[in-house]
Amino acid sequence: MNSDIKRIGVLTGGGDCPGINAVIRAVTKTAMNDYGWECYGIRDGFLGLIENRIEPLAWDQCSNILTRGGTILGTSNKANPSRFAVGKDKNGEPIWKDVRDKAMTHYRAHDLDAVVVIGGDGTMSCAATMIEMGGRFVGVPKTIDNDIMSSDLTFGFQTAVEIATDALDRVHTTAASHHRIILVELMGRNAGWLTLNAGIASGSDVILIPEIPYSVDKICEKCYDRKLHGKHFTIIAISEGAKPVGGVQTIKRRIADSPDAIRLGGVAHVLRDELEELTHIESRAVVLGHVQRGGSPCADDRVLATRFGHAAIELLANKQYNELVVMQNAQLGHVPIDSVANQQRLVNPEDELVAVARSVGTCMGD
Ligand code: F6P
Repeated sequence: MNSDIKRIGVLTGGGDCPGINAVIRAVTKTAMNDYGWECYGIRDGFLGLIENRIEPLAWDQCSNILTRGGTILGTSNKANPSRFAVGKDKNGEPIWKDVRDKAMTHYRAHDLDAVVVIGGDGTMSCAATMIEMGGRFVGVPKTIDNDIMSSDLTFGFQTAVEIATDALDRVHTTAASHHRIILVELMGRNAGWLTLNAGIASGSDVILIPEIPYSVDKICEKCYDRKLHGKHFTIIAISEGAKPVGGVQTIKRRIADSPDAIRLGGVAHVLRDELEELTHIESRAVVLGHVQRGGSPCADDRVLATRFGHAAIELLANKQYNELVVMQNAQLGHVPIDSVANQQRLVNPEDELVAVARSVGTCMGD
């Protein structure tokens, strides 16, 4: 029993995903049941720590939330305590300030002995800078992008793959009926894991990921080749971060007061126009967007989220502070939070999964 801990905080940062509530449930139930610790909820990620929106989490609030999408605590992907937008200058540009002292004051005012941070690379980067201020944290890797360094798997990813695969399956039949090219744009930022997995699961004819720049000519060749073999339609799974050889990513918008200002999106429409012009095959583009992040987690994510939440409390109980729970080679483990800060785990173009896709005849755009 770790007598250093009597009360913990929980926060959820960055983009939401299915399974966050399942982690909150596992964290709070393990903390209360096994160790008798009090739990406090911090609202809207690190924003709640900065603005002192911290309240006790009662048992009832954490019960019956296993299957619920989103996060009962709310989230924010704008609140980095070491670089927080406190206003705008006369040109409308954000004025950044380090407000970590303020966040630590609130951490101490509530007598928190540690905080469980459930988030992606941005949230872990924030936690790393708060560790420098003397806070105790433990991380749980969350994101549909599956791009957190040192973990083979993040919770939320498998549900997003299921949702995207279902969408690709559905466009398959309509593309075949209309003899069309249909591009389905998937999330994932700079990482192609979601597109690669959903693309393989749905038997997409072309899979385009950020890590392998595409050639429009090669994609046209694939469409022609399919036609030659009597297949008058083509399904293309394309990452929002995909880019042509020698080209750049398509940016949908810039969010000035977000530490990671760029939001990708729109590449499917750009490529649709090019393919239609070159192949004369009628083409459509579908952007799945936030549908991939919504709703109930799949069974595998429920189990993973529960294991991750439990493991986070075990780390605290064993005084292993400032560590991130990870999954490596199907085993739970942990690495220092600061070792994953400001990094993204990308697909290696030589990855076995890429080779498998190629072997079953998938065009990877190169
Ligand atoms: O990181 C998760 C993610 O869904 C990315 O796949 C996507 O690029 C981004 O968040 C979208 O962010 P927002 O919710 O701000 O539109």
